Amino acid sequence: MGVDLRHGGNRQAVADVLGCRPSQLLDASASLAPWTPRCPRLTAASLRDYPDRDQASLRQAIAAIHGLSPDWVLPGNGAAELFTWAARDAAAVGMSGLLAPGFADYRRALHCWDASWLETPLALAWDHAGPLHHPSLEGALAWICNPHNPTGQLWSRASLEAMLDRHALVICDEAFLPLVPNGEQQSLLPLVAEHSNLVVIRSLTKLYGIAGLRLGYAVAHPQRLQRWAEWRDPWPVNGIALAIGERLLASPQHHHRWCKRVQRWVATEGAWMQQQLAALPGITPMPSAVNYLLIRSNRSLVPLREAMEQRHRILLRDCRSFEGLGENWLRIGLQSRRNNRRIVKALREELQRSPLA
Ligand SMILES: Cc1ncc(COP(=O)(O)O)c(C=O)c1O
Repeated sequence: MGVDLRHGGNRQAVADVLGCRPSQLLDASASLAPWTPRCPRLTAASLRDYPDRDQASLRQAIAAIHGLSPDWVLPGNGAAELFTWAARDAAAVGMSGLLAPGFADYRRALHCWDASWLETPLALAWDHAGPLHHPSLEGALAWICNPHNPTGQLWSRASLEAMLDRHALVICDEAFLPLVPNGEQQSLLPLVAEHSNLVVIRSLTKLYGIAGLRLGYAVAHPQRLQRWAEWRDPWPVNGIALAIGERLLASPQHHHRWCKRVQRWVATEGAWMQQQLAALPGITPMPSAVNYLLIRSNRSLVPLREAMEQRHRILLRDCRSFEGLGENWLRIGLQSRRNNRRIVKALREELQRSPLA
């Protein structure tokens, strides 16, 4: 099998192609916080017993963080699993509206239910990261990604709130929002209680650097979540994910401190990378509110990405799978300062070897 370019984070597949170990790669094609909490000691019960089908303790912990009642929360096997159920509701409502370029998984989920969608092209020029006005979408329902993937634009709550009156259903993916400095001010979570047509989906993957665990959650009206729970398999969140999730979120104060630490890293490393990349010839970094950013060029960046992989063992996100972007764009996930230096140094070397300008 080759490398599937619809998502980043293909460490094993690329290592197989390069003939190296996955751990030898620096993966900036996925966008995770650079720290992962120490794995807590697990009880034998979390392996041996069937997981709690109601995910009651984890629901409670998530609800406490957001000041909600637990029946407004549904943990999932990553945000990706929850998109599947959101898409089933979407298919029943009618035509979905999406921005292009956008995150591929909404389309995968809509495909599952033979749902139709209309894409609104996103203007590919922006001079600050936001909060920006979200473009209007066509269709009975709207899929929103805040901040947007792959562009890193942060949408203003005011512009999203207006969409709640125009669409029968609004699905807002806030997978990256807790990583954005002051991002919570743009969250739609405070509006869920008053809007039964709103679903907010969050992920713990990026914030805690736990992509392998698979843990996310939806916040929506309890009747909707109850319906989703009846559609899923009986044990969608495994016992280890429940145990670790409960431990990570046990203290709202601890969670809040973790978010602040990640946001400080995004602010510092985001600014540093913008400055460093802007000084390189032939590429332009685009403003971003979050822990990834796009670079663009007037020429194809595919040879540069391949050289980064083959000569430096650094993975950058190929953007050809994003409608409207193509080969002149790459996405880079922020890393620790040491690894960001490594990326910039490798890019400088490659741009000297094969100039784009
Ligand atoms: C915008 C966005 N939402 C959701 C996800 C999926 O999150 P999870 O790992 O929780 O399934 C991703 C993964 O890349 C993403 O980019």
